[in-house]
Amino acid sequence: MIFFGCTFGRMSFQSEIINWYQNNKRDLPWRHTTNAYIIWLSEIILQQTRVEQGLPYFNRFLEHYPTVSDFANASETEVLKLWQGLGYYSRGRNMLFTAKQVMLLHHGIFPVAYNALIKLKGIGSYTAAAISSFSNNEAKAVLDGNVFRVLARYFGVAEAINTTQGQKQFEGLAQQLIENQTPSVYNQAIMEFGALQCKPKSPLCANCPLQVGCYAFKNNKVEVLPLKLKKVKVRERWFNYFVGIDEDYILTKQRLPGDIWQQLYDFPLIESEKEETLDDKLFLNHVRLSFGSQVSITKLYQKKHLLTHQIIYVQFFALHNYMINFNLHKEIQSILIEDFRQLPHPKIISEFVETYVNPNQI
Ligand code: ADE
Ligand code: SF4
Repeated sequence: MIFFGCTFGRMSFQSEIINWYQNNKRDLPWRHTTNAYIIWLSEIILQQTRVEQGLPYFNRFLEHYPTVSDFANASETEVLKLWQGLGYYSRGRNMLFTAKQVMLLHHGIFPVAYNALIKLKGIGSYTAAAISSFSNNEAKAVLDGNVFRVLARYFGVAEAINTTQGQKQFEGLAQQLIENQTPSVYNQAIMEFGALQCKPKSPLCANCPLQVGCYAFKNNKVEVLPLKLKKVKVRERWFNYFVGIDEDYILTKQRLPGDIWQQLYDFPLIESEKEETLDDKLFLNHVRLSFGSQVSITKLYQKKHLLTHQIIYVQFFALHNYMINFNLHKEIQSILIEDFRQLPHPKIISEFVETYVNPNQI
């Protein structure tokens, strides 16, 4: 075991981190509560997005559902609506499921113990550690990207963060460090330190209170730590395309930068985490939210599309009786099919158009 206390008159790693935190922390609403339900809300949202973008979602959710019982009684449609814009809409369904679990298994009292939390849907070791430490001061170390980075740099951990071996080493180190600290403060502090000071790119080493003891700083390894094993992992994605044709017009949207097929023109799209079917209520709900309550859909065609690092399962659905709120969906346009054919498309879209969109329609 490493003895972390011996720093020759300097403050310990933990004290430096906590001291820094007291002086630099952001004032965030979930830091003023020990209510496990509220902390759960914030953590689930923050897994999906950054703090600035997550804040309004957090406030809206809390306003609509002040307690877990309010959340458990919500409709899927309403939860989905509040979740809209955060991506992967099925997380909304998972949250509803968790809230209902809390009502059934814990009589509406959100658990605060790590071992109870970890059994709930959608709560993994990070979230269980966060909730149990913030709400109940349980000494369970959080390990997220921020913590990996701070530990790897400061202590010079040379194991990759995405191997079983590395994971074990980081867990051991993180857990050792939290012993004898105030867990709620220490966990928040190390995450905040990683987010604001020891940032992934251009960390603020020049004015860093941990500089003197920092392995990476002393050994010029700040740029290379933490190590990550490059695994060529194939990502699976499910694209549900909606084909809206109204006489000579067709619905289209241009793909945005930051993802495959950027700038190319495709169709309105709902991306999902699994294959969707026409008898899935949540999926149909989502379709109605996007295309009006009168809409009906029929499945036209499905295809697996292989890219270098991604497998895309594509399904095409025809829209009937649809309505689009073009103010809400500024990305979607209705244009002449003839013009649509002239635009650049991903291959899967041009294939579809050649096969399924009747040239007589022009
Ligand atoms: N990211 C994840 N959890 C967080 C928290 N509690 N505070 C700030 N950022 C976070
Ligand atoms: Fe991170 Fe730089 Fe501080 Fe080391 S000196 S802990 S790398 S910010």
